[in-house]
Amino acid sequence: LNINILEKFKSTFGNPHIFVKSPGRANIIGEHTDYNNGLVLPFAIDQSISMYLAPNNKKVLRMIAMDIDDQDEVDISSLSYQKNGWQRYFNNSLVAINRTIDSGIDIVFGGNLPQGGGISSSSALTCGFLAGINELFNFGFTQDELIDLASQAENGIGLNGGIMDQTAIIKGKKDHALLIDFNDCSLQYTNIPDSDYHFYLFNSGQKHNLVDTEYNKRRHTCELALKKIRSVDERVETMRDINHYHIDHLLDGQVMKKRCLHVLEENIRVIEASKAISNNNFMQLGSLIQQSHVSLSQNYEVSTTEIDFLVDISQKLPNVKGSRIMGGGFGGCTINLVEGLLDNSQIQKLQEEYLAKTGYSLSAFKVDPSDGVKIKRL
Ligand code: GLA
Repeated sequence: LNINILEKFKSTFGNPHIFVKSPGRANIIGEHTDYNNGLVLPFAIDQSISMYLAPNNKKVLRMIAMDIDDQDEVDISSLSYQKNGWQRYFNNSLVAINRTIDSGIDIVFGGNLPQGGGISSSSALTCGFLAGINELFNFGFTQDELIDLASQAENGIGLNGGIMDQTAIIKGKKDHALLIDFNDCSLQYTNIPDSDYHFYLFNSGQKHNLVDTEYNKRRHTCELALKKIRSVDERVETMRDINHYHIDHLLDGQVMKKRCLHVLEENIRVIEASKAISNNNFMQLGSLIQQSHVSLSQNYEVSTTEIDFLVDISQKLPNVKGSRIMGGGFGGCTINLVEGLLDNSQIQKLQEEYLAKTGYSLSAFKVDPSDGVKIKRL
């Protein structure tokens, strides 16, 4: 695959200067907590986007998307924020960095990250591109600055996301998950011990189209709830300070209560999950993942009937110890903790049952915690 991308670059633009490998991300637990000053436990995966970059002397950004066999170019002296098309990830990254560049940029990219699958292919593009041009033009942005720039480049397009995905993609470390606390943005690496347990993603085939509006609504509800609680209890600064008393007595409306309950309990599950991994207690980790799904489905209401069904049949496999919807929700992937490896006949049976019920084709793949964005000067 990389050879094809490189050949395409060479035959179209000449020799590339930079190679970038930018992974997708999985999240073990801690969903819809990042934008609530909460805790998450994601990792960068071994599936990635590869891109080759070089400057050109034309003042244009020339982009070739190998996977969808499409290309485009924009004049970089008159860039403005774009809302549509895959080109926006590059275009908007340049808008976000807001630096004068004396040349243009050529880019060819492709990879094995399913789009709309909830494994953050969009953050893989923005983080990879920004890290690549940071090296190409010696901008000197730190990792944290790159994370913020990537988030600026993506936000406003639809989903007003947190920065879990960009952090995992930039700071990912082989054999580790990232325990991030967004209250103070501290990060601890949790070693995933070499064991008989593995993570599998099941791509539901349901594109998470609804996610933008519903995600933003969830975020807004949490903001309103916090405001309400703070108006009574001034000791509360962020969603991290809320407790059951606040939820039960200071909020009215079942929906708002349920959203806050999810956030409160999910944060606790993240800490417990990180401890369970460190103690090699994978049965407990599985049970926490399972509880997370119930809460995401019933309290935060970001699952779908199809994904609830998928989680249900996945759990029935004897070696699946925990299964839940992952990422923003409303489609995309589930993450599954599996003892040993799934064999093809198990996957095939799951695919048949899921297809018969939902009409969607399921794909299953193992993911291993991997390094974040890697840059190579050529
Ligand atoms: C999306 C967002 C993340 C995070 C998750 C839900 O992936 O980009 O910031 O909020 O949803 O946990």
